[in-house]
Amino acid sequence: MKNEDVKETAQAFRLTRTELFAIRDGVTAAVEARLAGRASSLGLYPSFLRRPKQLADGEYLALDFGGSNIRAARIGLTGGRLRIGSLVKRPLVDFAGRYDYRQGVTTEALFSFVAGVVCEAAGEKGGLLGHTFSFPVRQTGRNSAQLLQWTKEISVCGVKGQDVQALLRNALQAIGRNDIKPTVLLNDTTATLLSGAYHTPQTIVGTICGTGHNSCYEEPTVQPTMILNSESGNFDGLPSNRFDQALDQTSHFPGCQRLEKMTAGHYLGDLVKLAARETGLTLPDNWSAAAFAPILTEATDMPLAQLVRAVVARAAQLAAAELAAFVRRSIVEGGMVPAVAADGSVFAGLPFFFQQVAKWLPILAEQPVSLYLEPDGSIKGAAIAAACTRWCR
Ligand code: BGC
Repeated sequence: MKNEDVKETAQAFRLTRTELFAIRDGVTAAVEARLAGRASSLGLYPSFLRRPKQLADGEYLALDFGGSNIRAARIGLTGGRLRIGSLVKRPLVDFAGRYDYRQGVTTEALFSFVAGVVCEAAGEKGGLLGHTFSFPVRQTGRNSAQLLQWTKEISVCGVKGQDVQALLRNALQAIGRNDIKPTVLLNDTTATLLSGAYHTPQTIVGTICGTGHNSCYEEPTVQPTMILNSESGNFDGLPSNRFDQALDQTSHFPGCQRLEKMTAGHYLGDLVKLAARETGLTLPDNWSAAAFAPILTEATDMPLAQLVRAVVARAAQLAAAELAAFVRRSIVEGGMVPAVAADGSVFAGLPFFFQQVAKWLPILAEQPVSLYLEPDGSIKGAAIAAACTRWCR
């Protein structure tokens, strides 16, 4: 494999500044189209939640239904402090081969598994449960949400179109846990924004880059003001290369989640594999983005490192361009520097990705912006949302 070939392959992932500003403006145009009721690749789904100002102290149950794991915990809120207790975490697929809840199981089996994790974390005592559900849903209120579409290559039949909160409530009742009361459902980006705003009030955007990718923000022109889940992973105004096209064609939902397929952990490993194959390097089937961290920390110019760096740098620039569009729409009280709260395994596990987003965000927003990690934002935000259902500003 010649170094020039690797350079040429890596070049397919390079974006110019002009392209990045055009992507930012494309996101803004997609927001405006959606707000005006025209066709748009963004969802901007209402959450019926606002950034909290004051919250009732108490203990809440929290469930985080993500793309890779189900996590549940009992979380205490006291005087502005938050404490996670009795955390239980189960992967959706057991790699020893005992189960796989991502596909080929019934709706009832999936939600009974989820309810089991909640009960384990709850122990004997019930309580109000906040449910972070990290997939696109249409909400008619805080406590009901219809699944619009599975993402992140999950494909359990029979859930699409159903009220996910009702499915969870039924599964809890079926095991005799009427004392555990699901009271609110929210997206993981909304949870991250709530969790960040709880200690940093100038937080105006919540974003996740983990197995999937998405962002939310409070749109000032929508009345009453509330956080909107943009489902930005589905944004499609992007220049795509031959590797993006090949990956999209072999995915479960070709044509959907185009930005997510260029930025999220579930796909980045496959993009590198496709690019590596072009240069004559075959990576094992089970090779994934989990292998990126050591490669990115070594100061090496090895072919694989060049490809990983190119794929991750582009992912970070795209995320920054999209986030810049949301920052520019948001209003921060008191002239403070706006902040973006970020969570997910790509933000948390790849410092190179985080640093690149932090570098490009103020450039593309054309104003100072601070980006910070909000670890466990998706589960902490579920407890904050449950507290909001008792008493919120
Ligand atoms: C889902 C979003 C979620 C994101 C991050 C995407 O696949 O559609 O709802 O916020 O992943 O988990």
